[in-house]
Amino acid sequence: MATPDNDGVRAVIWADDRLRLLDQRLLPAQTAWIEATTAAKVADAIRDMVVRGAPAIGIAAAYGAVLAARACGPDREALMRELDRLAAARPTAVNLGWAIARQRRLVEESVGDATPALLAEAVAIHEADLSANRRMGELGGALVETGDVLTHCNTGSLATGGYGTALGVIRSAYADGRIGRVYADETRPWLQGSRLTAWELIHDGIPVSLLCEGAAASLLASGRVSWVIVGADRIAANGDVANKIGTYSLAVLARHHDVRFMVVAPTSTIDMATPDGAAIPIEERPEEELLSFAGKAVAAAGASAWNPVFDVTPADLIDAIVTEVGVVEHPGLAGMHELMGQRA
Ligand code: MRU
Repeated sequence: MATPDNDGVRAVIWADDRLRLLDQRLLPAQTAWIEATTAAKVADAIRDMVVRGAPAIGIAAAYGAVLAARACGPDREALMRELDRLAAARPTAVNLGWAIARQRRLVEESVGDATPALLAEAVAIHEADLSANRRMGELGGALVETGDVLTHCNTGSLATGGYGTALGVIRSAYADGRIGRVYADETRPWLQGSRLTAWELIHDGIPVSLLCEGAAASLLASGRVSWVIVGADRIAANGDVANKIGTYSLAVLARHHDVRFMVVAPTSTIDMATPDGAAIPIEERPEEELLSFAGKAVAAAGASAWNPVFDVTPADLIDAIVTEVGVVEHPGLAGMHELMGQRA
């Protein structure tokens, strides 16, 4: 029987010197694992959405660096090329580039075989993410009064080292008896809400109702929801937040209906080198992902599609950014600098 704190699901597992990834494309119908034996396979798995969610792709890439070091031996140039390939697998989530930058630095500093140092670093990144999520769960959960919440995409154990960012806050507040029901956007076109978030919450015994994104305005107008709680793929120095497409609309709606808006992300998602949201690269995926579903056409033949998979929520629409080192209310440049100073 699942407990309210159930956090048994893991999407990225390093065991017996092997990297296993839960194939999230097949959930919830099938629980199948792929073994990623090379850095190229890890990069493919990230690009093809086998593993997804900003922290999880950073963790997977960090282990990918270990596989690359093993395969490249003393050939440092080849190893650096593999690290570049991993970092380029998806453009928006900064956790990916952040994890690879850490591994690159270790390669540069190491003499001889870098593999043991890279493995220790990957494990450290993985474990730190899990404990950051637990801490964010406490900090963010404390902001939630009694009521229902709305979330978007999947930010749970599947998207992280475990427990989750926004979903970790929801888990924590639910365990404290402060959330009655979670409303989850289905999250077109990959259905991370319907397939993944609902799957995780049902596993935990947390009541969940799905809605299509178009229903969010009516839900917020109904007064049933006290917080919209989402994750992030990259937070710029001024507090602008890139997250799954549709997040920006939720923030506008939340402000209009006087509902508070919380972003939950570890400091590995904060990119102080990116000044604002306009400088965040937004991934556009193939139009086929919108024009067909499970191999079947769902659009009129001849239609084209625009498929940006992230958008940017301006900082002034955000009430709180919750990280493992603290909460920034009404984020802006000064607040973000102060937060990152605390991390240092
Ligand atoms: O395209 P995805 O599924 O990788 O997008 C994931 C999201 O947008 C999440 O909200 C974000 O990565 C935060 S996950 C803790």
